[in-house]
Parts: sequence; structure tokens; C-alpha cells
Amino acid sequence: MNFQALLRLVHITGFAAWFGTIFASLFLLRTLEPGLTGEKKEADVHTLLLRRFIKLETKVADVAVISVILSGLLLAHFYEGWSTWVFTKIGLVILQIALTIGYIIKAIQPITYPCKASAYRPWYHLFAISFTMFGIILLTTFFLR
Ligand code: HEM
Repeated sequence: MNFQALLRLVHITGFAAWFGTIFASLFLLRTLEPGLTGEKKEADVHTLLLRRFIKLETKVADVAVISVILSGLLLAHFYEGWSTWVFTKIGLVILQIALTIGYIIKAIQPITYPCKASAYRPWYHLFAISFTMFGIILLTTFFLR
């Protein structure tokens, strides 16, 4: 078995799973928006659905993030070397995780439902942060090596 190919497979699959969970979350938040910004009774049901989804999603996303990072570090150690490119990626991943967690604590967790459409907007800012960071990391991966 080719260990490098295995690490690449884990790295790319982990990335795809992580990226996919973000898209799935965006679609769910779009779908639930009318309920979460509407009547109290409907908002209660939608909040329950949202909580259940987030519980499942974070399980997959956590495993995916850890797989991407571990396989990336092993690829760097055994095959790529500790280049500036690798350190840039590590820095960006740390920044992405810090920004995401920081923004969730600061702007997402305080939201109570039902809320006004304007109070719901931080969810979309969160996705903007995630996708921008993914974009920067992918550009770094393919064009800065
Ligand atoms: C600690 C974090 C990371 C490290 C140390 C790391 C390291 C590496 C290394 C060494 C390679 C080269 C593999 C090879 O060609 O054999 C690689 C490839 C790749 N990485 Fe990462 N990576 C990290 C995070 C990420 C993240 C977060 C993403 C996605 C946003 C990502 C996306 C990719 C992609 C798409 C490739 C394939 C590039 C190609 O085929 O030329 N990596 N990574």
C-alpha cells in the first residue's frame, strides 16, 4: 500500500467532507429561515430541528477537520518538507478555526428564536467567513506552492 497515496486520499476526502458540511448547513439555514424568523410555535419546532442537525453535523465536521490536519501534517513531515507554503497553510487553518469559533460565540450563540430577519443575518456572515477562508486556503494550495 502506498502510504503517500493513502494520506492524500484522507486529506482530500476530509477536505471534501468538511466543505460539504458547510454547504449543507447553509442550505439548511436558508430552508429554516422563514420558520426561525416567523411565529413562536413554528420557531420552536425549527429550533429543535436546527439543534439536531448541528449535533450531527459537528460530529462529521470534527472528524473531517482532524483528518485534514493530521494527514496534512504527516504529508508535510514525510513527503513535502516544512516549507513556507506548509506553514502558511497551517497558519490559515488556525486562523479559520479561530475566526469561526470566535464568531459563533460572539454572534451566533446569542441569537434566540424567533428573531427578526436582520438578527438572523450573522448566520450568513458566518458562511461568508468560512467560504472566504476555504477560498484563500485553496488558492494558497494550488498557486503558492
Ligand atoms: C494543517 C493543515 C494542512 C497541512 C499541513 C496541509 C498540507 C498539505 C500537503 C503537504 C499537501 C501536498 C500533498 C501531496 O501532494 O502529496 C497538501 C495538499 C492539499 N491540501 Fe492541504 N494541508 C492542510 C490543510 C488543508 C486544508 C484546510 C485544505 C482545504 C481547504 C487543504 C487542501 C489541500 C488540497 C486540495 C491538496 C491537494 C493539492 C494538489 O493536488 O496539488 N489542505 N496539503
